[in-house]
Amino acid sequence: MSFPNKFLWGGALAANQCEGAYNLDGKGLSIQDLMPYGVRKGLSDGPIKENLKLIGTDYYHRYKEDIALLAGMGFKVYRFSIAWSRIYPNGDEDVPNELGLKFYDNVINECLKYNIQPLITLSHYEMPLGICKKYDGFRSRKMIELFYKYATTVVDRYHDRVKYWLTFNEINITLISPLMSAGVITNKKELTASELYQTAHHQLVASGKITKYIHENYPNLKVGCMVASAPRYAMTCDPLDMRTMMESQHELDYFIHVHVYGKYPYYASKIWKEKNVELIWEKDDEEYLSHTVDFISFSYYNSKVVAFDESKYTMSNGNLMRGLTNPYVKTSDFGYPIDPQGLRFCLNYLYDHFHLPLFVAENGIGSYDKLVQNKDGNYTVDDDYRIEFHREHIKAISEAIDDGVDVFGYTTWGPIDCVSAASAQIDKRYGFVYVDRQPDGSGSLNRYKKKSYDWYKNVILSNGVNL
Ligand code: BG6
Repeated sequence: MSFPNKFLWGGALAANQCEGAYNLDGKGLSIQDLMPYGVRKGLSDGPIKENLKLIGTDYYHRYKEDIALLAGMGFKVYRFSIAWSRIYPNGDEDVPNELGLKFYDNVINECLKYNIQPLITLSHYEMPLGICKKYDGFRSRKMIELFYKYATTVVDRYHDRVKYWLTFNEINITLISPLMSAGVITNKKELTASELYQTAHHQLVASGKITKYIHENYPNLKVGCMVASAPRYAMTCDPLDMRTMMESQHELDYFIHVHVYGKYPYYASKIWKEKNVELIWEKDDEEYLSHTVDFISFSYYNSKVVAFDESKYTMSNGNLMRGLTNPYVKTSDFGYPIDPQGLRFCLNYLYDHFHLPLFVAENGIGSYDKLVQNKDGNYTVDDDYRIEFHREHIKAISEAIDDGVDVFGYTTWGPIDCVSAASAQIDKRYGFVYVDRQPDGSGSLNRYKKKSYDWYKNVILSNGVNL
């Protein structure tokens, strides 16, 4: 296995899915605090107890125990996000909330205590509700300025301890779920294509603007973009299916291209024309977009099969990136495709097209785990399926490295169980650590190491040799 010596092994979490403490120490509401049933069911009127994210896994109070568990696996890096609404509760205050800043000081210092590099996602599906309601999220250009204020506040505060920064989690999801990804309260069905693409444009400008700020003020820091990858496969070799695949892949590449080359790709004009999109540009947009990232990070859960005439096929299950059923791959408990080879393909594809170092920022399998007592009387989960999932994906990364691709890190999704983003469930578990929280909200919140915990520890210890 050919992992570089300094390969960054670790895991990733998002504030809204684990912290809980939704109204403590000055935190304002975020859009997630009103999303009890996941992204497809819209917002509740206020925070209701059915929303498992309000308590999450109580990470806000247990981060020391959790980071110690991550350190126990030998993590080199820990990717987490900052809840914008802990720093600017409504999103538009003049002064940040010191208690919020202090919390992340503590989290960062706890990581450094164990020599774990913190990697921060500035915005991970958790925008402050106040400004989302006031401006309809990133549909308004005003959000660029507010995001910039928030992002410069946290970068200025933590730059001496945090080298790696991601701007927006899965920024391309804005076209699929403008609510979750861009804080747009208006129902997607009521948005015109122009409004949707304008929203994405504002986020891209905001991403470029903070990238410029970081590079100009802290030249040693590294900034990455973050996209949901799902590499596209054509259902058949029918040239029409191949064309559909190319166009579908462009929907993703559009976002990476801007981050890497500092401008929209050649095919953007055609997309805009076909969809009647008229982007409104302002004076500095072009300049901000020209500030490019140092690396590309992406989530990889599965590949996505497309066809010209999708009515001829069945849809597979899947999260936000559903495709057609692929008869050649296995599926998870949730019916999501499992395609490790797709990760090798994806890494090669991205490196070939964009020539920047790559970071696998999320990868994992959500399952219905069963807590059992082993012969020593300890509680655990026999999650051989999770071990197999990660083993095969890590092999695929090593093959891509052998192919010549520059990959410098791998953070598994949800190393400690957390509430799911798309469906707000707790029983779709991804972790190496089981958290006793149940779908009805009950549970001790105690943490238990699953079988995969020691397995991943050995993988890291052997730098990817012992799989
Ligand atoms: C990614 C998100 O899309 O998928 C994470 O960045 C999310 O926030 C992960 O948790 C898994 O999806 P889910 O819906 O199963 O939690």
